[in-house]
Amino acid sequence: MSRSQTEAIRNRQTMSERQALFRRFGYDSAASLKFILAKVLPLPGHVLEIGTGKGGFLARLGKYADHITTLDIDADQQRLAKRHVRQAGPRCPIRYVIHDAERLPWPDASFDTVASVNTFHHLERPMRVFKEMLRVLKPGGKLVLSDLSPRGFQIFDRIHRFEGGTHPRLKHGLTGFRRLLRRPGWKTRRFKGCNQEILVATAPSAQTKEKKHT
Ligand SMILES: C[S@@+](CC[C@H](N)C(=O)[O-])C[C@H]1O[C@@H](n2cnc3c(N)ncnc32)[C@H](O)[C@@H]1O
Repeated sequence: MSRSQTEAIRNRQTMSERQALFRRFGYDSAASLKFILAKVLPLPGHVLEIGTGKGGFLARLGKYADHITTLDIDADQQRLAKRHVRQAGPRCPIRYVIHDAERLPWPDASFDTVASVNTFHHLERPMRVFKEMLRVLKPGGKLVLSDLSPRGFQIFDRIHRFEGGTHPRLKHGLTGFRRLLRRPGWKTRRFKGCNQEILVATAPSAQTKEKKHT
């Protein structure tokens, strides 16, 4: 089966049919998203989400954030996300932006929180996107990066093999990204559970940066 045929089948499935399939293979989307939120909340101020997808994380995040901008390169994915978010109930204001995350269309230090969930293994150049996320994060802001754990990737390999396709992997998980934050003033934490890895980091405040330069 070709990649576009597999994709067409996936898009016809409803979100709940797809989640039921994931559960049969051992990945509980609801439990994983709940686990991520428990580890990363609160997400203060204006939140930028990289990789809207079908809106799995966005629908939940909308209940806790004040204001969200979500970005994806694929307009079809955002259309599905809008529907899913509407069905999920009350939420904060959300702005949908279609753009390549390798070149974010905002100046430096634009967002209080920058988050990305289960998107990095789909990126051609994840390190470029990560650097862009750091660039648009305000001093003292919060960075959240979550992707599948090695066991999570095994489960998705099995699901996609069952469907006649393949699933990309994030080489070395989140290790390289955390290493890049081993800089003065950054605080990082890492969590594992529910087939996910999570990196939560706080950027140095403006004062810390000033001190460094005096
Ligand atoms: C698995 S989905 C995201 C899942 C979503 N965060 C959720 O919780 O349901 C990955 C998304 O990354 C998007 N994507 C891939 N490369 C991108 C890029 N360079 N810039 C922006 N979005 C990109 C894809 O279009 C896709 O919608």
